Amino acid sequence: MLIKRPADLRPSEITPPELFYDRRRFLQLTAGMAAVSAWPGLAAAGEKLPGLKRGAYVAQDKPTPYEAVTGYNNFYEFGTDKEDPARHAANFKTRPWTIAVEGEVRKPRVFDIEDILKLAPLEERIYRLRCVEAWSMVVPWVGFPLAELLKRVEPTGNAKFVEFTTLLDPERMPGQKSSVLTWPYREGLRMDEAMHPLTLLTVGLYGELLPNQNGAPVRIVIPWKYGFKSAKSIVRIRLTEQQPITTWNEAGPREYGFYSNVNPDVDHPRWSQAKERRIGEFLKRPTLPFNGYAEQVAGMYAGMDLRRDF
Ligand code: MTE
Repeated sequence: MLIKRPADLRPSEITPPELFYDRRRFLQLTAGMAAVSAWPGLAAAGEKLPGLKRGAYVAQDKPTPYEAVTGYNNFYEFGTDKEDPARHAANFKTRPWTIAVEGEVRKPRVFDIEDILKLAPLEERIYRLRCVEAWSMVVPWVGFPLAELLKRVEPTGNAKFVEFTTLLDPERMPGQKSSVLTWPYREGLRMDEAMHPLTLLTVGLYGELLPNQNGAPVRIVIPWKYGFKSAKSIVRIRLTEQQPITTWNEAGPREYGFYSNVNPDVDHPRWSQAKERRIGEFLKRPTLPFNGYAEQVAGMYAGMDLRRDF
C-alpha cells in the first residue's frame, strides 16, 4: 500500500505471498490448515469466547489458516512489512481501553471495552477479506453489527457519515514514529454503509479475542470494501455531517478512493484489481464485484458512477 518509488519497493510487496514465506513457514502454514479443521480445540493464544453463535452471513469459502490470518498482516502502526505486526504488537496493552462514540448523536457515550463485549450477542461471521494489494483471505471473525452500537447513541438527522479513529500513541505503537502515513489512522463510511448488517464491530477471530496484530481490542470489518477501510484498534467513532478525511485517501487520492468498494473493473493506477491471490493458494482467482457481496450491498450504490466514486 505504500506510496513509494519503484526503487523503494520491498520484496514483501512485490513477491506473491506464498513465495514470500520461506519453505519452512509454508510448511507450517499447511500444517495450520489441519488445525483449522479441528477448530475450536486448537486455536492458539487469546481468550476463548464462550457461547458463540454462527451469524447469518457465512461465506462458504474455506477459512485461511490461523497462522496466516495472524502472521501476514497490514498494521502500519507496528511496521510496514507483513510480518512486523505479529512481531511488534506482541506486548501491546489493550486494557484499559475505551471507545468514544460522539458527534451527531443524541446520547454521546464513552464505552469501556468490557461493556462493548457485552453489548450484543457475539456472532461468528466467516467473511472474505480482499486487500487492495490484490491478495485475499477468508476469516472467521467474531463480533456484532456496528448498527447495534450506533443505535444506542441515537444518531441525529444530521448524521451522514461515520469516522473511525485508531489509537494515537507512538510509545505503544512505534510505527507512528515514522511519517509513512499521517497518524492517527482514520477511516470512514457513509451512514447507510455503517448501518448495514454486514458491517461488523469485530472483537475476535477463530473463536478467541482478537490477537493484537489483527486490531485488538476492537476493529471494524466491512467485507465488500478493500481491507484498508477496516480500521484497527479504534478509540473513537464520530458521526458527522461532512464526509470525513481518511488516511489512505489523504495519502493518495487517485489510488485510494473514499468508497473503495471491491471492484474488478476499476484498477489501482499501479496494478490490476481483476484478479487476486488467496493466501495459501497457487493460482489467482477472479475478483468478485463487491467482493462477492453484491446481492446484499449493490443497492446502496444505485445511480452512482462507481468509476468516479471508486
Ligand atoms: N488499521 C490500522 N489502524 N492500520 C493499518 O495499517 N491496515 C488495513 C486494515 N486496517 C491498517 C488498518 C489494511 S491495508 C488491511 S488489508 C487490513 O487492516 C488487514 O487486516 P488483517 O491484518 O487483520 O488481515
